[in-house]
Amino acid sequence: MNKAIRQAVIAGNWKMNKTRPEARALISELIPLVKDANCGVVICVPFTNLETALDATKGTNIKVGAENCHWAKSGAFTGEISAEMLAEMGVEYVVIGHSERRQYFGETDATVNQRVRAALDSGLKVILCVGELLEQREAGITEEIVGMQTKAALGGVFAGELKNIILAYEPVWAIGTGKTATAEQANEVNHYIRTVVAKLYGAPAADAMTIQYGGSMNAKNADELLAQPDVDGGLIGGASLKAADFAVIVGAASR
Ligand code: PGA
Repeated sequence: MNKAIRQAVIAGNWKMNKTRPEARALISELIPLVKDANCGVVICVPFTNLETALDATKGTNIKVGAENCHWAKSGAFTGEISAEMLAEMGVEYVVIGHSERRQYFGETDATVNQRVRAALDSGLKVILCVGELLEQREAGITEEIVGMQTKAALGGVFAGELKNIILAYEPVWAIGTGKTATAEQANEVNHYIRTVVAKLYGAPAADAMTIQYGGSMNAKNADELLAQPDVDGGLIGGASLKAADFAVIVGAASR
């Protein structure tokens, strides 16, 4: 397993936060702090902030992502946004299968797979989230759950498309709770996910895959988590709402 061949990516997941003026202010603050990053830098923002974010990051090294997309191209799906609509705007990334979507909005492995397919077909890059609940970890079935989520989400995805997918391991019990997985726990599951990808697509494809960790990663613990051999960046919720903290994490991934 060769970490050197993979690009680390730090992606902010703003969730349902920031009005447009607040978004513009946060991005202005962030731009100079991350301009020399030696890793990918992405901010995934609410749909209402996409245009603002695209405009504010023009000519910088910060890429913009959405937090979800629908699987259909268009149609009678009130309240939904298609992958094609995002791609047309110039959005590059989309988060799919976040545990909050799975928990609160009825997202299933099947709909995650459909959304992944639609995003790839529209030319978007996918940040695909998987992760176990606390009771699943306690029952000793973390690998089964995460393996199944990964395989189901990648159904129908060709090897050549993997370069457009980043996997994000996010243990649900660590999201927004301040309870980070230990660096060893994060690395162990990230490594397991890589073996699942290797079984599906072969070792070289798995070696090249960026696999992030997410769940209470912050300015204090980022160094240790990102130093792990199978942790290739992070998906950052709370800490992505503070420019200085997010920049420290980007700095840690750049080393
Ligand atoms: P957190 O969120 O960093 O606030 O725990 C991570 C995520 O949900 O992507």
